Amino acid sequence: MCGIFGITGRDGDTIQILLKGLTKVEYRGYDSSGICISTPTGLSLKRKEGMLDNLKQNLSGLQEGRSGIAHTRWATHGPPTEMNAHPHCDPQNRVAVVHNGIIENEVQLRQILIESGPEVCFSSDTDSELVAHVLAEELDAECGNEVPTDEQLLAAWRRTLDRLDGSFSLGALVNGRDDVILFARVFSPLILALNEAGYLASDISCLAGMVDKISYIEDGDWGLLHPGRIELYDKDGEAQIREMKKLPWAEEDSELGGWSTFMLKEINEQPAVIRACLHGRLSRDAVRGVKISFKPDLVRIIACGTAFHAGMMARHYIEELSGIPCIVDHAHEFRYGTPSGPKALVLGISQSGETADTLAGLIAAQERGYPTLSIVNVETSTIARQSDAILGIRAGPEIGVASTKAFTGQVLGGLLVALRLGRLANKVHTEDLSNLNNAARRLPNAMERLLASNQLEQGLKRARRLFKGKEHAFYLGRNSSYPIALEGALKLKEISYIHAEGYAGGELKHGPLALIEEGTPVVVVSSDGIIQQKLFGNAREVAARGARVIMIAIEGDQEAAAHADVVIYVPKTHKLLQPLMHNVVCQLLSYHVARDRDCNVDRPRNLAKSVTVE
Ligand code: F6R
Repeated sequence: MCGIFGITGRDGDTIQILLKGLTKVEYRGYDSSGICISTPTGLSLKRKEGMLDNLKQNLSGLQEGRSGIAHTRWATHGPPTEMNAHPHCDPQNRVAVVHNGIIENEVQLRQILIESGPEVCFSSDTDSELVAHVLAEELDAECGNEVPTDEQLLAAWRRTLDRLDGSFSLGALVNGRDDVILFARVFSPLILALNEAGYLASDISCLAGMVDKISYIEDGDWGLLHPGRIELYDKDGEAQIREMKKLPWAEEDSELGGWSTFMLKEINEQPAVIRACLHGRLSRDAVRGVKISFKPDLVRIIACGTAFHAGMMARHYIEELSGIPCIVDHAHEFRYGTPSGPKALVLGISQSGETADTLAGLIAAQERGYPTLSIVNVETSTIARQSDAILGIRAGPEIGVASTKAFTGQVLGGLLVALRLGRLANKVHTEDLSNLNNAARRLPNAMERLLASNQLEQGLKRARRLFKGKEHAFYLGRNSSYPIALEGALKLKEISYIHAEGYAGGELKHGPLALIEEGTPVVVVSSDGIIQQKLFGNAREVAARGARVIMIAIEGDQEAAAHADVVIYVPKTHKLLQPLMHNVVCQLLSYHVARDRDCNVDRPRNLAKSVTVE
């Protein structure tokens, strides 16, 4: 949430580089953006409401300089207006600040600042502006109107940070010091990088192509970023040197590469994600790379959104393959609950590895003495570093705000965990592994065939017509297709703004059936065996009340067409992998329905990638 990018030590191209970086982090927030440049004659500021393009088209008057900070906002305090866009300055324009996170003692700080002098006036509704006021005040106390030395900057910055409560990553410029950026990180992501210049960013994606190595600074770190040099202190004020690590992704990994949208690109990357995720981990006779060394009495999964749905899939796998009971919680619910009891393993799932609630849930679990394992995409993320062990899904950068390929990787991660637990519980035998391994090896090709099939294209064409002019839709599944129904509904609502709900088919008669009316689209995520028959029954029930049924069925299913207005077939695979096929159809259906409604699928309204605030 909110993208931060900063650079110090450039000559003549600071604005251009900031815009390039900002473009890459725009997916973290896109309701307004801004840039501040430190020039020899002062701080030069430009901010605009709306998407980054609006800023790019309105840069006149912004002066060049050696250092700059930039921000793309996802509003928490105050509406998304130009006034509330970052960077924020103090009234004298002595400092400029970009902030991601929440300043929790905002009210008290504001009061103290008001009482400190009649000339104090605030120019925004944000908590972030207060940081600029406090820093300016501390600089004033440190060196009056003089240009501060490094020592004075550090002293004023430390006292400023001591006055802030909450979660934040911060970057700040100080007038007269165009050779330095102040930084701090408390429970919000921030990365530093160096070449002959110095870089600060909330996300690795904007650094790809600019630097080779990055430093994931620690929680509580703060200091000064100089061209080619970092002066860093930990939360106790001790000077530290943090390790520089190789950037995990190449620049082109986070580019469109000929696709019209990131969402479509990422949906089509799923066969490659399957290959990469299972490579070297699943074979005929072994499961490798899942770092679980004991058989827990209970597995507790915590995650949010799409990752939560992947967690529901993982629960199916774990209970079926190992017999170990499993509970799936939204991370924010787990965090404030009071779980106790048996020898449990806590499994976190997060694409970004930065979701604040999942991170806090894992920390809460560790404080209660539970070992933690996390399924993550960004293996260098905060969650990855906080967890006792990780399983990387190897999906590559996911830029589209609606998570697609990461879900596939997360589900496979859950399957690998379940297989490992099944081995520890002596319930998964070599024959089971061999069958699954054979199917898993064929899965990417089968999915590629599905993605390229005329049948899918035609089916989607007919299905999306049923959503024309509709404001409500329902998804039904059972057992392992139930999480897919939930995920299908989430995908539709977040990118098309059609209200959509996923239900377990058995729940229909307990309330939701009342919502079905003439023409309501209902997507049935079918299966086989007894579940298939039960879902056919549900399809008949909604159709009898006027619903238009879209059935996602397995190839060779002779009966599906009798229960649906539109049937889209997916190739048959191993029953544990089958839901991934169905999910691809749900993703594409949402995509096309959203495009039919002229929605921006990569930047849905009110959302942002990576929810780094609670
Ligand atoms: C939905 C979506 C979100 C994320 C959720 C968790 O398409 O993308 O629901 O799944 O915010 O994010 P991560 O996996 O980064 O923890």
